[in-house]
Amino acid sequence: MKILFIGGTGNLSWDTSLVVCSQGHELFHLNRGLQKDKTHDNIHQITADIHDEAAVRTALGNRTFDVVVDFIAYTIEDIERDIRLFSGRTGQYVFISSASAYRKPPVHHVITEATPLVNPYWEYSQNKIRCEARLQREWLEKSFPITIIRPSHTYSKSWLPTAWTSSDFTVAARMLAGKPVVVHGDGQSLWTLTHSRDFAVGLAGLLGNRAAIGEVIQITGDEALTWDAIHHTLAQALGVEPKLVHIPSDFIARIDPEMGAHFLGDKTYSAVFDCSKLKRLVPAFKTTISFNQGIRESVDWYLEDPSRQKVNIHIDGVIEKVLSAWNRAMDAV
Ligand SMILES: NC(=O)c1ccc[n+]([C@@H]2O[C@H](COP(=O)([O-])OP(=O)(O)OC[C@H]3O[C@@H](n4cnc5c(N)ncnc54)[C@H](OP(=O)(O)O)[C@@H]3O)[C@@H](O)[C@H]2O)c1
Repeated sequence: MKILFIGGTGNLSWDTSLVVCSQGHELFHLNRGLQKDKTHDNIHQITADIHDEAAVRTALGNRTFDVVVDFIAYTIEDIERDIRLFSGRTGQYVFISSASAYRKPPVHHVITEATPLVNPYWEYSQNKIRCEARLQREWLEKSFPITIIRPSHTYSKSWLPTAWTSSDFTVAARMLAGKPVVVHGDGQSLWTLTHSRDFAVGLAGLLGNRAAIGEVIQITGDEALTWDAIHHTLAQALGVEPKLVHIPSDFIARIDPEMGAHFLGDKTYSAVFDCSKLKRLVPAFKTTISFNQGIRESVDWYLEDPSRQKVNIHIDGVIEKVLSAWNRAMDAV
Protein backbone atom coordinates (compact mmCIF):
# COMPACT_ATOMS: atom_id res chain seq x y z
CA MET A 1 0.00 0.00 0.00
CA LYS A 2 0.95 3.64 -0.46
CA ILE A 3 0.56 5.28 2.95
CA LEU A 4 0.98 8.90 4.04
CA PHE A 5 1.62 9.88 7.65
CA ILE A 6 1.17 13.52 8.59
CA GLY A 7 3.77 13.66 11.34
CA GLY A 8 5.57 10.32 11.30
CA THR A 9 8.55 11.01 13.55
CA GLY A 10 6.56 11.54 16.76
CA ASN A 11 5.90 9.60 19.95
CA LEU A 12 3.20 7.39 18.39
CA SER A 13 3.97 7.74 14.72
CA TRP A 14 7.65 6.73 14.64
CA ASP A 15 7.16 3.20 15.98
CA THR A 16 4.11 2.86 13.70
CA SER A 17 6.31 3.96 10.78
CA LEU A 18 8.80 1.21 11.59
CA VAL A 19 6.06 -1.45 11.68
CA VAL A 20 4.53 -0.21 8.40
CA CYS A 21 7.98 -0.26 6.74
CA SER A 22 8.68 -3.78 8.04
CA GLN A 23 5.42 -4.87 6.37
CA GLY A 24 6.78 -3.70 3.00
CA HIS A 25 4.44 -0.75 2.42
CA GLU A 26 5.52 2.44 0.65
CA LEU A 27 5.47 5.09 3.39
CA PHE A 28 5.51 8.87 2.96
CA HIS A 29 6.09 11.27 5.86
CA LEU A 30 4.78 14.80 5.65
CA ASN A 31 6.43 16.95 8.32
CA ARG A 32 8.83 19.88 8.66
CA GLY A 33 11.87 17.57 8.62
CA LEU A 34 13.12 18.74 12.02
CA GLN A 35 13.88 15.28 13.47
CA LYS A 36 17.06 14.50 11.55
CA ASP A 37 17.80 11.30 13.51
CA LYS A 38 14.58 9.59 12.40
CA THR A 39 15.11 8.45 8.83
CA HIS A 40 14.62 5.11 7.11
CA ASP A 41 15.47 3.89 3.61
CA ASN A 42 11.82 2.99 2.93
CA ILE A 43 10.37 6.37 3.99
CA HIS A 44 9.88 9.12 1.42
CA GLN A 45 10.12 12.57 2.98
CA ILE A 46 7.68 15.34 2.00
CA THR A 47 8.71 18.51 3.76
CA ALA A 48 5.98 21.04 4.52
CA ASP A 49 4.22 22.74 7.42
CA ILE A 50 0.77 21.16 7.61
CA HIS A 51 -0.70 24.54 8.58
CA ASP A 52 0.37 26.00 5.22
CA GLU A 53 -2.30 24.39 3.06
CA ALA A 54 -1.03 25.83 -0.22
CA ALA A 55 2.51 24.59 0.46
CA VAL A 56 1.16 21.14 1.40
CA ARG A 57 -0.90 20.97 -1.79
CA THR A 58 2.18 21.84 -3.86
CA ALA A 59 4.36 19.35 -1.95
CA LEU A 60 1.81 16.54 -2.43
CA GLY A 61 1.49 17.22 -6.16
CA ASN A 62 -0.94 14.78 -7.80
CA ARG A 63 -0.06 11.84 -5.54
CA THR A 64 -2.89 9.64 -4.30
CA PHE A 65 -2.71 7.24 -1.34
CA ASP A 66 -4.36 4.05 -0.12
CA VAL A 67 -4.22 5.44 3.42
CA VAL A 68 -3.61 8.85 5.00
CA VAL A 69 -3.09 9.05 8.77
CA ASP A 70 -3.10 12.51 10.34
CA PHE A 71 -1.32 12.17 13.69
CA ILE A 72 -1.39 15.90 14.41
CA ALA A 73 -4.99 17.05 13.85
CA TYR A 74 -6.37 18.74 16.96
CA THR A 75 -9.05 21.21 15.82
CA ILE A 76 -12.02 21.53 13.49
CA GLU A 77 -9.86 23.75 11.26
CA ASP A 78 -7.33 20.92 10.93
CA ILE A 79 -10.12 18.52 9.95
CA GLU A 80 -11.70 20.93 7.42
CA ARG A 81 -8.26 21.35 5.82
CA ASP A 82 -7.72 17.58 5.68
CA ILE A 83 -11.15 17.03 4.10
CA ARG A 84 -10.24 19.61 1.43
CA LEU A 85 -6.79 18.09 0.88
CA PHE A 86 -7.64 14.39 0.90
CA SER A 87 -11.21 13.95 -0.41
CA GLY A 88 -10.85 11.83 -3.55
CA ARG A 89 -7.13 11.36 -2.86
CA THR A 90 -7.17 8.48 -0.34
CA GLY A 91 -8.90 5.14 0.18
CA GLN A 92 -8.87 5.62 3.98
CA TYR A 93 -8.41 8.70 6.18
CA VAL A 94 -7.36 7.94 9.75
CA PHE A 95 -7.83 10.53 12.49
CA ILE A 96 -5.90 10.08 15.74
CA SER A 97 -8.37 11.16 18.42
CA SER A 98 -7.95 10.58 22.16
CA ALA A 99 -9.43 8.37 24.87
CA SER A 100 -9.48 11.49 27.05
CA ALA A 101 -12.63 12.42 25.12
CA TYR A 102 -14.68 9.77 26.96
CA ARG A 103 -17.29 10.94 29.48
CA LYS A 104 -15.93 12.59 32.61
CA PRO A 105 -16.76 11.74 35.31
CA PRO A 106 -17.26 8.17 34.06
CA VAL A 107 -20.36 6.17 34.92
CA HIS A 108 -18.65 2.82 34.42
CA HIS A 109 -15.05 1.89 35.04
CA VAL A 110 -14.65 -0.16 31.84
CA ILE A 111 -14.48 1.97 28.71
CA THR A 112 -15.52 0.79 25.24
CA GLU A 113 -16.03 2.66 21.97
CA ALA A 114 -19.72 2.95 22.96
CA THR A 115 -18.88 5.09 26.00
CA PRO A 116 -20.24 8.61 25.29
CA LEU A 117 -17.87 11.46 24.51
CA VAL A 118 -18.35 14.31 26.99
CA ASN A 119 -15.54 16.22 28.65
CA PRO A 120 -16.65 19.39 30.43
CA TYR A 121 -13.12 20.12 31.73
CA TRP A 122 -10.43 19.82 29.07
CA GLU A 123 -10.37 21.88 25.87
CA TYR A 124 -8.01 19.43 24.15
CA SER A 125 -10.61 16.65 24.53
CA GLN A 126 -13.50 18.94 23.59
CA ASN A 127 -11.70 19.75 20.33
CA LYS A 128 -11.08 16.07 19.60
CA ILE A 129 -14.82 15.43 20.13
CA ARG A 130 -15.66 18.20 17.62
CA CYS A 131 -13.18 16.73 15.12
CA GLU A 132 -14.77 13.28 15.43
CA ALA A 133 -18.30 14.68 14.98
CA ARG A 134 -17.24 16.60 11.85
CA LEU A 135 -15.62 13.51 10.35
CA GLN A 136 -18.65 11.34 11.13
CA ARG A 137 -20.78 13.83 9.19
CA GLU A 138 -18.42 13.70 6.21
CA TRP A 139 -18.57 9.89 6.28
CA LEU A 140 -22.36 9.77 6.52
CA GLU A 141 -23.07 12.48 3.95
CA LYS A 142 -20.20 12.08 1.48
CA SER A 143 -18.75 8.61 2.20
CA PHE A 144 -15.37 10.15 3.12
CA PRO A 145 -13.67 6.88 4.23
CA ILE A 146 -12.80 7.64 7.83
CA THR A 147 -11.35 5.56 10.63
CA ILE A 148 -11.18 7.16 14.08
CA ILE A 149 -8.54 5.90 16.51
CA ARG A 150 -8.70 6.60 20.24
CA PRO A 151 -5.34 5.97 21.92
CA SER A 152 -5.04 6.31 25.68
CA HIS A 153 -1.80 7.39 27.41
CA THR A 154 0.88 6.02 25.07
CA TYR A 155 4.64 6.36 25.51
CA SER A 156 7.77 5.57 23.55
CA LYS A 157 11.39 5.35 24.64
CA SER A 158 11.73 9.16 24.78
CA TRP A 159 8.73 9.53 27.10
CA LEU A 160 8.47 9.03 30.89
CA PRO A 161 4.74 8.93 31.64
CA THR A 162 3.81 10.57 34.96
CA ALA A 163 0.80 12.39 36.37
CA TRP A 164 2.32 15.77 35.43
CA THR A 165 4.35 15.49 32.26
CA SER A 166 5.32 12.63 29.98
CA SER A 167 7.61 13.94 27.26
CA ASP A 168 10.36 15.30 29.50
CA PHE A 169 12.43 14.65 32.63
CA THR A 170 10.56 16.94 35.07
CA VAL A 171 9.26 14.34 37.54
CA ALA A 172 12.31 12.07 37.18
CA ALA A 173 14.59 15.02 38.00
CA ARG A 174 12.55 15.71 41.16
CA MET A 175 12.84 12.07 42.19
CA LEU A 176 16.61 12.03 41.60
CA ALA A 177 16.97 15.24 43.62
CA GLY A 178 15.02 13.70 46.53
CA LYS A 179 12.19 16.24 46.09
CA PRO A 180 8.54 15.36 46.81
CA VAL A 181 6.35 14.40 43.87
CA VAL A 182 2.62 15.15 43.91
CA VAL A 183 0.28 12.30 43.01
CA HIS A 184 -3.36 13.30 42.55
CA GLY A 185 -6.09 11.79 44.72
CA ASP A 186 -4.95 8.95 46.93
CA GLY A 187 -2.83 7.46 44.15
CA GLN A 188 -5.15 4.47 43.87
CA SER A 189 -7.16 5.18 40.71
CA LEU A 190 -6.28 2.85 37.83
CA TRP A 191 -4.54 4.09 34.71
CA THR A 192 -3.70 2.36 31.45
CA LEU A 193 -0.32 2.95 29.84
CA THR A 194 0.47 1.60 26.40
CA HIS A 195 3.89 1.31 24.79
CA SER A 196 4.08 2.82 21.30
CA ARG A 197 5.55 -0.41 19.85
CA ASP A 198 2.38 -2.26 20.94
CA PHE A 199 0.15 0.61 19.75
CA ALA A 200 1.96 0.45 16.39
CA VAL A 201 0.92 -3.16 15.77
CA GLY A 202 -2.72 -2.24 16.46
CA LEU A 203 -2.73 0.81 14.21
CA ALA A 204 -0.77 -0.82 11.37
CA GLY A 205 -3.31 -3.68 11.38
CA LEU A 206 -6.15 -1.21 10.81
CA LEU A 207 -4.53 0.52 7.83
CA GLY A 208 -6.09 -0.60 4.58
CA ASN A 209 -8.39 -2.85 6.64
CA ARG A 210 -11.85 -2.59 5.02
CA ALA A 211 -13.53 -3.58 8.27
CA ALA A 212 -12.12 -0.43 9.88
CA ILE A 213 -13.73 2.03 7.43
CA GLY A 214 -16.45 4.09 9.12
CA GLU A 215 -15.40 2.71 12.52
CA VAL A 216 -14.08 4.10 15.78
CA ILE A 217 -11.46 1.92 17.46
CA GLN A 218 -9.61 2.41 20.72
CA ILE A 219 -6.05 1.14 20.97
CA THR A 220 -4.71 0.56 24.48
CA GLY A 221 -2.73 -2.04 26.35
CA ASP A 222 -4.14 -4.45 28.92
CA GLU A 223 -2.09 -3.34 31.91
CA ALA A 224 -3.90 -1.03 34.35
CA LEU A 225 -1.78 0.31 37.22
CA THR A 226 -2.48 2.61 40.13
CA TRP A 227 -0.85 6.05 39.94
CA ASP A 228 1.20 5.15 42.99
CA ALA A 229 2.46 2.03 41.19
CA ILE A 230 3.33 4.08 38.09
CA HIS A 231 5.43 6.52 40.12
CA HIS A 232 7.01 3.76 42.21
CA THR A 233 7.97 1.86 39.04
CA LEU A 234 9.57 4.98 37.58
CA ALA A 235 11.47 5.62 40.83
CA GLN A 236 12.65 2.02 40.95
CA ALA A 237 13.99 2.30 37.38
CA LEU A 238 15.83 5.46 38.47
CA GLY A 239 17.19 3.64 41.53
CA VAL A 240 15.59 5.93 44.14
CA GLU A 241 12.86 5.78 46.78
CA PRO A 242 10.13 8.29 45.79
CA LYS A 243 8.57 10.80 48.19
CA LEU A 244 4.95 10.77 47.01
CA VAL A 245 2.50 13.36 48.36
CA HIS A 246 -1.20 12.70 47.73
CA ILE A 247 -3.24 15.82 46.94
CA PRO A 248 -6.85 15.90 45.69
CA SER A 249 -7.31 16.98 42.05
CA ASP A 250 -9.84 19.64 43.19
CA PHE A 251 -7.15 21.20 45.36
CA ILE A 252 -4.65 21.19 42.48
CA ALA A 253 -7.33 22.84 40.28
CA ARG A 254 -7.78 25.63 42.84
CA ILE A 255 -4.06 26.40 42.73
CA ASP A 256 -3.58 25.98 38.99
CA PRO A 257 -6.75 25.80 36.84
CA GLU A 258 -4.82 24.73 33.73
CA MET A 259 -3.33 21.66 35.42
CA GLY A 260 -6.69 21.22 37.17
CA ALA A 261 -8.34 20.72 33.76
CA HIS A 262 -5.66 18.18 32.89
CA PHE A 263 -6.44 16.19 36.07
CA LEU A 264 -10.22 16.65 36.31
CA GLY A 265 -10.65 16.16 32.57
CA ASP A 266 -8.50 13.05 32.41
CA LYS A 267 -6.19 11.54 35.02
CA THR A 268 -8.41 11.79 38.09
CA TYR A 269 -10.60 8.86 37.05
CA SER A 270 -9.81 5.21 36.61
CA ALA A 271 -9.35 4.37 32.93
CA VAL A 272 -9.56 0.70 32.04
CA PHE A 273 -10.34 -0.23 28.45
CA ASP A 274 -12.06 -3.14 26.76
CA CYS A 275 -10.23 -3.44 23.43
CA SER A 276 -12.08 -6.49 22.12
CA LYS A 277 -13.10 -4.60 18.98
CA LEU A 278 -9.45 -3.97 18.10
CA LYS A 279 -8.51 -7.57 18.89
CA ARG A 280 -11.28 -8.80 16.58
CA LEU A 281 -10.08 -6.55 13.72
CA VAL A 282 -6.35 -7.07 14.38
CA PRO A 283 -5.80 -10.53 15.91
CA ALA A 284 -2.02 -9.87 16.09
CA PHE A 285 -2.53 -7.06 18.61
CA LYS A 286 -1.57 -7.79 22.20
CA THR A 287 0.26 -6.18 25.07
CA THR A 288 3.86 -7.34 24.88
CA ILE A 289 5.68 -4.57 26.79
CA SER A 290 4.92 -4.23 30.50
CA PHE A 291 5.31 -0.79 32.09
CA ASN A 292 8.13 -2.20 34.19
CA GLN A 293 10.02 -3.08 30.98
CA GLY A 294 9.03 -0.01 28.97
CA ILE A 295 9.93 2.52 31.65
CA ARG A 296 13.38 0.95 32.10
CA GLU A 297 14.05 1.45 28.38
CA SER A 298 12.91 5.07 28.65
CA VAL A 299 14.98 5.75 31.78
CA ASP A 300 18.06 4.22 30.09
CA TRP A 301 17.48 6.49 27.07
CA TYR A 302 17.37 9.59 29.29
CA LEU A 303 20.33 8.59 31.44
CA GLU A 304 22.47 7.82 28.37
CA ASP A 305 22.67 11.52 27.45
CA PRO A 306 22.21 14.35 29.99
CA SER A 307 21.21 16.75 27.19
CA ARG A 308 17.96 14.75 26.92
CA GLN A 309 17.06 15.43 30.57
CA LYS A 310 14.93 18.52 29.95
CA VAL A 311 12.84 19.90 32.82
CA ASN A 312 9.62 21.84 32.24
CA ILE A 313 10.35 24.78 34.53
CA HIS A 314 6.73 25.96 34.43
CA ILE A 315 5.28 22.60 35.53
CA ASP A 316 8.01 22.17 38.13
CA GLY A 317 6.98 25.58 39.50
CA VAL A 318 3.31 24.54 39.58
CA ILE A 319 4.24 21.39 41.54
CA GLU A 320 6.16 23.56 44.05
CA LYS A 321 3.22 25.97 44.33
CA VAL A 322 0.73 23.14 44.89
CA LEU A 323 3.01 21.55 47.51
CA SER A 324 3.49 24.73 49.46
CA ALA A 325 -0.27 25.51 49.48
CA TRP A 326 -0.98 21.93 50.57
CA ASN A 327 1.59 22.09 53.36
CA ARG A 328 -0.01 25.34 54.63
CA ALA A 329 -3.48 23.74 54.49
CA MET A 330 -2.26 20.64 56.33
CA ASP A 331 -0.55 22.79 58.98
CA ALA A 332 -3.84 24.64 59.48
CA VAL A 333 -5.60 21.41 60.45
N1 LIG B 1 0.73 10.15 23.58
C1 LIG B 1 -0.43 9.97 24.09
O1 LIG B 1 -0.52 9.56 25.25
C2 LIG B 1 -1.68 10.25 23.28
C3 LIG B 1 -2.91 9.87 23.81
C4 LIG B 1 -4.05 10.11 23.08
C5 LIG B 1 -3.97 10.71 21.83
N2 LIG B 1 -2.76 11.10 21.35
C6 LIG B 1 -2.71 11.75 20.02
O2 LIG B 1 -1.58 11.30 19.30
C7 LIG B 1 -1.20 12.28 18.37
C8 LIG B 1 0.26 12.58 18.51
O3 LIG B 1 1.01 11.66 17.70
P1 LIG B 1 2.56 11.61 17.87
O4 LIG B 1 2.80 11.26 19.30
O5 LIG B 1 3.17 10.72 16.88
O6 LIG B 1 2.92 13.15 17.58
P2 LIG B 1 4.07 14.05 18.16
O7 LIG B 1 5.00 13.30 19.04
O8 LIG B 1 3.43 15.30 18.62
O9 LIG B 1 4.93 14.29 16.82
C9 LIG B 1 4.78 15.33 16.02
C10 LIG B 1 5.05 14.90 14.56
O10 LIG B 1 4.42 15.86 13.74
C11 LIG B 1 5.38 16.61 13.01
N3 LIG B 1 4.94 18.01 13.04
C12 LIG B 1 4.79 18.81 14.15
N4 LIG B 1 4.33 20.02 13.79
C13 LIG B 1 4.19 19.98 12.42
C14 LIG B 1 3.75 20.93 11.45
N5 LIG B 1 3.35 22.17 11.80
N6 LIG B 1 3.73 20.55 10.15
C15 LIG B 1 4.12 19.31 9.78
N7 LIG B 1 4.54 18.38 10.64
C16 LIG B 1 4.58 18.71 11.94
C17 LIG B 1 6.72 16.37 13.71
O11 LIG B 1 7.81 16.48 12.82
P3 LIG B 1 8.55 17.91 12.60
O12 LIG B 1 8.76 18.50 13.95
O13 LIG B 1 9.80 17.55 11.85
O14 LIG B 1 7.61 18.74 11.75
C18 LIG B 1 6.51 14.92 14.18
O15 LIG B 1 6.73 14.04 13.10
C19 LIG B 1 -2.03 13.53 18.70
O16 LIG B 1 -3.12 13.62 17.80
C20 LIG B 1 -2.53 13.25 20.10
O17 LIG B 1 -3.72 13.93 20.39
C21 LIG B 1 -1.61 10.88 22.04
